[in-house]
Order: sequence, then structure tokens, then C-alpha cells
Amino acid sequence: MPSLYLHRFSFSFTLVTLLSLSLPFPLYAQDSSFEFTEATVDSIQAAFKSGSLTSVQLVQHYLSMIQNLNPLLRAVIEVNPDAMTQAAKADLERRRYPYNRNRLHGIPILLKDNIGTADKLNTTAGSFALLGSVVSRDSGVVTRLRKIGAVILGKASMSEWAYFRSETAPSGWCARSGKGINPYVASASPCGSSSGSAIAAAANMVNMVTVTLGTETDGSIICPAVANSVVGIKPTVGLTSRSMVIPISPRQDTIGPICRTVRDAVYVLDAIVGYDVYDSPATKEAAKYIPKGGYRRFLNFDGLRGKKIGILREGFFNFSKNSVQAKVFEQHFSLMRKKGAVLIDNLQIANTSVILDYNQSGEELALVSEFKVALNYYLSQLTSSPVRSLADVISFNENHKKEERIQEYGQLIFLESESTKGINSTVRNAISNMAQLSSKGIETLMKEKHLDTIVTENAALGPILAIGGYPGISVPAGYDEKGVPFGISFGGLKGFEPRLIEIAYAFEQATKVRKPPSFKDNFQIVSDL
Ligand SMILES: *[C@@H]1O[C@H](CO)[C@@H](O)[C@H](O)[C@H]1NC(C)=O
Ligand SMILES: *[C@@H]1O[C@H](CO)[C@@H](O)[C@H](O)[C@H]1NC(C)=O
Ligand SMILES: *[C@@H]1O[C@H](CO)[C@@H](O)[C@H](O)[C@H]1NC(C)=O
Ligand SMILES: *[C@@H]1O[C@H](CO)[C@@H](O)[C@H](O)[C@H]1NC(C)=O
Ligand SMILES: *[C@@H]1O[C@H](CO)[C@@H](O)[C@H](O)[C@H]1NC(C)=O
Repeated sequence: MPSLYLHRFSFSFTLVTLLSLSLPFPLYAQDSSFEFTEATVDSIQAAFKSGSLTSVQLVQHYLSMIQNLNPLLRAVIEVNPDAMTQAAKADLERRRYPYNRNRLHGIPILLKDNIGTADKLNTTAGSFALLGSVVSRDSGVVTRLRKIGAVILGKASMSEWAYFRSETAPSGWCARSGKGINPYVASASPCGSSSGSAIAAAANMVNMVTVTLGTETDGSIICPAVANSVVGIKPTVGLTSRSMVIPISPRQDTIGPICRTVRDAVYVLDAIVGYDVYDSPATKEAAKYIPKGGYRRFLNFDGLRGKKIGILREGFFNFSKNSVQAKVFEQHFSLMRKKGAVLIDNLQIANTSVILDYNQSGEELALVSEFKVALNYYLSQLTSSPVRSLADVISFNENHKKEERIQEYGQLIFLESESTKGINSTVRNAISNMAQLSSKGIETLMKEKHLDTIVTENAALGPILAIGGYPGISVPAGYDEKGVPFGISFGGLKGFEPRLIEIAYAFEQATKVRKPPSFKDNFQIVSDL
């Protein structure tokens, strides 16, 4: 059993402490003139091509930045001891065959800690209970990433168990790394559960990574993306394989990118979609949505032209009339009109209040019931593991009650889930109720009004997308008086990714809202670097 008393992280880091950390690598890759700040996949690939940057230099840079920044931000749980070797291999491959490489070849990617890797990295959903468990194979998405030569940089911290253990734990908290910190305003929530992925993607003033993967069951990609001023894509359920990813519900879980730009996110999406024999029939059914030539074809600068956009306000827009957000959103809407979109305002989805109520919609009962079944199946597939069932995980937490870090926030959701007895008729009714809500709600509205997307502030449409398995994209939309980021989310019906990408990309290009983080409050230090 590894020591569970990891050093408690201190908020009051000083420049002196920071710089006195001994670094295995130079602070910046010194023999490269590459501009790391706000680097994109394209700028990195161009530098690879011209010879001004190598994957090894890039990985070195990120590793030293992670070592510096992570004590403040807690975005990364583990770095991959093999990352440098993978980078060197990519450099060699590029030198030998410098053509037709995937856009992600040689690009470092950080994976949320519930995404399984059959390597030296642990896969723990942020929990000590799973430390030392061994997955029997790479997750479906990682299999694809390795094949195209992406560099697995490490695992990102997250809300423990994808926020499905305790109702009281703060967003972004897990026992293994403590609470993740929003790099814009330290006192603001980073949201979750893909908190570490979003923080690492955002924290680019001094870079931690190029691109990241998160997972979403209800809001867990788009909410942290919004909170950390980056782009999140929640794909249609089944478009990306969930095989060997620590689950909540196969009916709702989906894997997607969190990146600084829509373009980078689309490159990642292109790399991870597709059929996986280990996640069938879901990936087989959703494969019909994948466009020939991939999603990057829809990175269309003029992508707002002719699009029909429905604005959901009641229940979704909670900004007060004179707030920065309210003003900025009106500017965004008028810009969209200028760019040729047709906006239909004040639309309503039938039963909105029921859909947004986690308990009333049936989502709570369905998820707690599905979680036990899905987690027990995941644990049964592991080559070895200290825990083999939800009951074991609960005992583990009980047995480590004294370790404050583990027991801090209880495990109410676990207990609720453990008390369920499979998918009985009550649960099936809850699931069909959600299907009804979706069909009478978003499906009916979008079809009747011929909408390409519905739009709301922040991640407010999370539950709509969650209960129906629909896709969504969130894009930075602004910063409030305190500098806390806010975002805009576009949602659509299953398989609507191409038009959502057109809309999100054109919106992003027209607004260019994103700024690198200011590292306010406790982060004076970083701007001094
Ligand atoms: C995985 O966890 C084990 C403890 O069980 C630890 O020794 C090892 O260093 C971890 N792997 C990485 C890559 O950090
Ligand atoms: C949803 O709304 C429709 C009509 O607007 C209504 O007939 C139906 O009973 C509602 N369903 C639920 C679950 O509230
Ligand atoms: C929903 O709320 C009711 C009443 O507040 C509660 O009794 C019930 O346990 C909740 N449902 C679930 C699945 O937790
Ligand atoms: C089905 O399971 C749920 C959750 O454990 C329980 O509340 C409900 O009473 C059960 N329904 C039936 C018909 O047994
Ligand atoms: C907006 O406010 C309503 C009513 O107070 C609340 O039910 C809802 O959860 C809020 N929505 C968001 C996205 O904050």
C-alpha cells in the first residue's frame, strides 16, 4: 500500500519556492525559438516541418512546466515516464518519412485519469482505491491515439470518480491530487469532472500541454471547458469508444477533446472517433454519423451563414440584465446575425424544468443504478486490482477513514448506488421517461423549427444533451468583472457534429475571445516567471 499521506498542497507558494524546485530540464527548451504561448497543433506541426522544434523539445518543455505549475494548479496526476521515448520515436519517424502524417503525430496529449492506458501510468479516476490496478488493454481512444503517433503525456486530475462519489466534494477535487485550481481566478470553480484536462489546456501562459481528453456523463466536458476558457466537444454518445474507460453510464458516457481552439479540438475528434469491437453496438451505430474526409472539412470560416440558431433563455439564461455577460451575449447574437445566421429567440423546450431537475427527470435513479453495473463490469476486466466491485471501493474508503484526504467528503452517491439492485422496471421507466422528455423536448423543437443548433450560456444545456446522448460544443464567450471566464454552448441532435463545428468555429474566429489565463489571486508568481 503506497503512502496515502501525500504532502498537503500549500496555496501560498512564492516565487522563491517555485524557482528553487530542482528541474530535470531547462525551463524553456533553450535551443528552440518556438513560440510556446498559445501554440496550436498547426503551429507545432509547422515548426516540426521547418525543423525549428522537435517533439522531444516540446515534451521537455511541457514536463518542466508541469513540474513548475502543477503544485499551484493540480491539473496533472501523473506524467508518463515513457513520454520522452515516444517523442523521440515520433521525431525519428518524421525524419524518415516526412509526409502525410496525422495532425496529432508527435503531439503531446493529456488524458483524464479515468481513461485507461496499458502502460506505466495508473488509471484511477482520482481515487486511491484504484491505485495499482492494471487495465488489460488500452482504452479504445488511446489505441487510436497511439496508432497515429500522438505522445501520451500523462493523466489529468479530475473530480474524483467523475463526481459520482460524494455530493459534497468541490468540483475538481480528488483524493490523489487535491482540488484543481482555475488558472484565471483561483477562487473560482474549475468545474468538473474533466477539471484537470481543462485547467491544463487553459494554463498556457506557460504551457502544460497541447491538447487533452475529457469525458462527459452530464456536463463534465463542456462545464470545465467553459470555466477555464477553452473549447470542449461532447460527441454524440457512441461516436467515441468508452472501452476501458472508468464508467458511470454507458447510456450517457462519452469521450471528447478539451483544447484551446476549435481547430485543435476537431483534430483530436478526428483521431478518436470510430467503431471499436469492445464498445459495440454503440460505436457501430454511431459510426454512420462520421463524415467522409473527417470533421476538419467543417472548419469553415463562413460557417454561420444560413444556419438556424435557436436561443433558449427561460431556465437557461440567469445573468442579470445589466451584467457583463448579458451585454456580451447580445453582442455575440448580433454578430452571429451579421455573419448570416438566422436567430430565433426565446424558444422553449417542453418540460424544461423537469429536464433540468436531475431527480425528477429520472436521471438520478438511472445513473445510480447503471453505475453499479457498469463499474463492476469495468473492474472485472482488470488484469489485477485491489478492488473488484463497488462494494470493495466503499470498504476501501471506510477502511481509510483516518486518511483525511480519502474520506474528506464521504461517499453518499456510492452508497446510494450500492443499494440499487440492477436495472429493474422502475429504472427502465425512468430511462423511458428521459427518452420521452428528449423526443418531446429537443427533438420536437429542433425539427419543427428546422434548427441547426440550440444555444445557451455556459454549460446550461448539459442535462438536455446528457439524457438524450446528444452532442455539444462549448466555446469561450467572455470574462466577467472579476476575470472569471464564461462560455457559450451549442447543442444539436445526434450526428450534428459537422454543423456544430461549422457554427462553433465561425463563432470563435469572428470573436477571438480567448486570452491566456491571468493567474490572479495566488498566481502573481507565474506572471513573474
Ligand atoms: C502508479 O502507481 C504506483 C503505485 O501503485 C506508483 O509506484 C507509480 O509510480 C505510478 N505510476 C506513475 C507513472 O506515476
Ligand atoms: C412534457 O410535455 C408534454 C407537452 O408539452 C406533456 O404532454 C408531457 O406530459 C410532459 N412530460 C413530462 C414527463 O412532464
Ligand atoms: C429523488 O427525491 C426524492 C424526494 O426528495 C428522494 O426520496 C429520492 O431518493 C430521490 N431519488 C433518487 C434516485 O435519489
Ligand atoms: C427498482 O430499484 C430502485 C432502486 O434501487 C428501487 O427504488 C425501486 O423500488 C425498485 N423497483 C422495483 C419494482 O423493485
Ligand atoms: C437558472 O435559474 C433557475 C431558477 O432559479 C434554476 O432553476 C436553474 O438551475 C438556473 N440555471 C442555471 C444554468 O444556472
